[in-house]
Amino acid sequence: MDLINSFCTELRELLKSTDSQPEIFNRGRQLLSGLALKPLFLKEVLRRFATDDEFLKNRLLTADPNEITIYVDPAGHFSLRLYVWDPAVSYPVHSHGSWGVVACVAGEILERRFKLLERGSTPGCAKLKESARAVLKPGETTTVLPLDQGIHQMEAVVKEYSSISLHLYGKSIRRGFLEFFDLQKDSVYRIMNPYLYGRACALRALGAIGEDWAAEILGQAAAADKKPHIKYEAIRALALLDREAAVKCLEKEIAGGIQPAEDFENLLKILK
Ligand SMILES: [Fe+2]
Repeated sequence: MDLINSFCTELRELLKSTDSQPEIFNRGRQLLSGLALKPLFLKEVLRRFATDDEFLKNRLLTADPNEITIYVDPAGHFSLRLYVWDPAVSYPVHSHGSWGVVACVAGEILERRFKLLERGSTPGCAKLKESARAVLKPGETTTVLPLDQGIHQMEAVVKEYSSISLHLYGKSIRRGFLEFFDLQKDSVYRIMNPYLYGRACALRALGAIGEDWAAEILGQAAAADKKPHIKYEAIRALALLDREAAVKCLEKEIAGGIQPAEDFENLLKILK
């Protein structure tokens, strides 16, 4: 843990000393590259994942199935995560809830960057265009900006074994879900951790069932859920069954100052 601890200490000092994104990227790349070139820092983390059944069962799952969480700052200012890229898998194009710095640890990783051309007026549409591509080798780094400014895709180049990258993320400005993009369908969809994704699926299932009891459960869920992105899922599903009730829910949430309000306001515009 010493290597990880000293990385975290230096990073905390950096984040305390500046808000400048170029400075954070510049120093963050140096620090992350230095750590990525010393794979010993992974010894205890990987030992725990590889041999401790209890740890594996009880760990908090995240939205990305290929992620190994290394460290999450208790104050929420940054996190350090490892991603394992299997050469047989096509990983989705995605955006991020924060800025990020990425360093290759092993293998070779192709990064394709995308520009968002447009989002349609209905939820779920997004057109992208590839804007750049580069291959990262061990110790080499790249950076991403939050949300629509940092859409990219990563995949293993080496075919014989998995490639690995180390990711440093800053404070989240969007919480609760990731956006994945489908280039064939010109679409965007939300991915959550498996616990919440189970709830989102149940809400979508209720929206597909045209029964009064389904609308009743959706109304309860919309009122009770504390997480804005789940509340949004509930109201969106409710709108399929009872438009008027969904409009009322949206107006109530917007008047109550829900944050971020954008999704709720856009849905209200579509329904009215
Ligand atoms: Fe990414």
